[in-house]
Amino acid sequence: FLLGIDIGTQGAKAVVIDDMGHVVSSANVSYSFESPQPGWCEQSPSLWWESVISCLHSLWKNGVDPTAIRAIGTTGQMHSLVILDERKQPIRPAILWNDGRTLKECSEMEEIVGSDYLFNTTRNPILPGFTAPKLLWLKKNEPEHYSRIKKVLMPKDYIVYELTGEFSADVTDASGTCLLNVPDREWAWDVIDELGFSRDWFPPVSESQEVVGSLSETAAQITGLPIGIPVIAGAGDNAAAALGNGIIMEGTGSISIGTSGTVFIPLKELPDLARDQASTLHLFCHCLPGMWHAMGTTLSAGMSLRWLRDAFEKQNYDDLLEGVDQVEAGAGGLLFLPYLNGERSPLNNPAAKGVFFGLSYEHHRKSMARAVIEGVCYSLRDVLDMMEKAEIEVADWTVTGGAIKNPIWTKVLADVFQQHLHVHEEREGPAYGASILAGLGNGVWKAVADLPMLDQKANRIEFNRENQPVYDAQFARYQSIAQAMNPLF
Ligand code: XUL
Repeated sequence: FLLGIDIGTQGAKAVVIDDMGHVVSSANVSYSFESPQPGWCEQSPSLWWESVISCLHSLWKNGVDPTAIRAIGTTGQMHSLVILDERKQPIRPAILWNDGRTLKECSEMEEIVGSDYLFNTTRNPILPGFTAPKLLWLKKNEPEHYSRIKKVLMPKDYIVYELTGEFSADVTDASGTCLLNVPDREWAWDVIDELGFSRDWFPPVSESQEVVGSLSETAAQITGLPIGIPVIAGAGDNAAAALGNGIIMEGTGSISIGTSGTVFIPLKELPDLARDQASTLHLFCHCLPGMWHAMGTTLSAGMSLRWLRDAFEKQNYDDLLEGVDQVEAGAGGLLFLPYLNGERSPLNNPAAKGVFFGLSYEHHRKSMARAVIEGVCYSLRDVLDMMEKAEIEVADWTVTGGAIKNPIWTKVLADVFQQHLHVHEEREGPAYGASILAGLGNGVWKAVADLPMLDQKANRIEFNRENQPVYDAQFARYQSIAQAMNPLF
């Protein structure tokens, strides 16, 4: 068996698969993040590790034999900054990917390094939420913490450290720091030097499937896993989920609706984009050697519906969504901009806020819930629009993330995109992809072409052509309202 571990934003997950790629068992633990100031998002690394331990013990309780696990792969939220001191302890809570405090530091970074040089080296615009500007923020605002930094890790790297005692980084997550030379798949040492960061902070970067350590005696005692089994470098959650869904060829793409929303497109070569053409497009390494991917991120996707559920004081999503499929497409003219904690792609405005536009007497809980779902789908279409402007195109779409559990999400998404969508229910989610990477790293499969699960058939969600006029019109209004409001937030 192979084990995949995911450090999500709203919970940790562990998945065990067999050599055919079938899921044997899985376990989750939910948690939330702290917001010490508006727009800030933080989480404690020890909460992640404790949650991983309880997921593993649930797996064993559910009948999985821990001694049958042959290799471990980790994945998790990208960009979130973990800093360790000389005792290898977290200095402060992690500053997360959806945290919007670093707009100023992004400009400072461009000034220090030179914006053209920075873009040409990292191939990415520098955006709040990415890791590097968080370090500049700490330098200014928490010098006491900054001066104690000995290691900089991503969330899943922290779990690799707890499992093995080794410090490692992988190409996918390192891309999201904005300190990686993405074409060369190596740290951009000159950028790191220019910014005054220490080279020692950054662990060696590996390809995602490379073995970076083995399970330590301490971790074996705590988790019940066999001592010495290999642990691979792992991957950021978007790349891992894409691999699990078979999104590894040009012409395919995935749309993820989890806490965040992403549009993800694999690339065999990096396109040569001009700085303004790139907008807020992310160009990162994929979790397979010699592959990259394009991505855009909307910050509050599933998180917007969670906010509405809590605002209406509903116990669960079924209660919130009861009757929503009866509301007509377009939610009676009601539009929602899902910018509850700012927005990344394409707006790049951490100060943006959520908006209901066009409320009237006839609207109610059901129309508001429908508008939230539609608004998230428009924000993803807005990301796609940005990718199309950069001439990156896709014919074959797969949808992934927690939203696939509710048919209304996938149906609205298919209609808003006017595309049919594939869903792989069993192979869904980053933890599954991490377990495949563990199998590739441990030699269960020699190459991607040997992956048995890639032949499995997906479910297909059809779109309704009749809804095209209303969704096209609503999307055009969405873009106009977002543009008009952007300077007012
Ligand atoms: C990607 C991003 C999010 C996180 C969520 O750029 O910020 O999708 O990876 O876990």
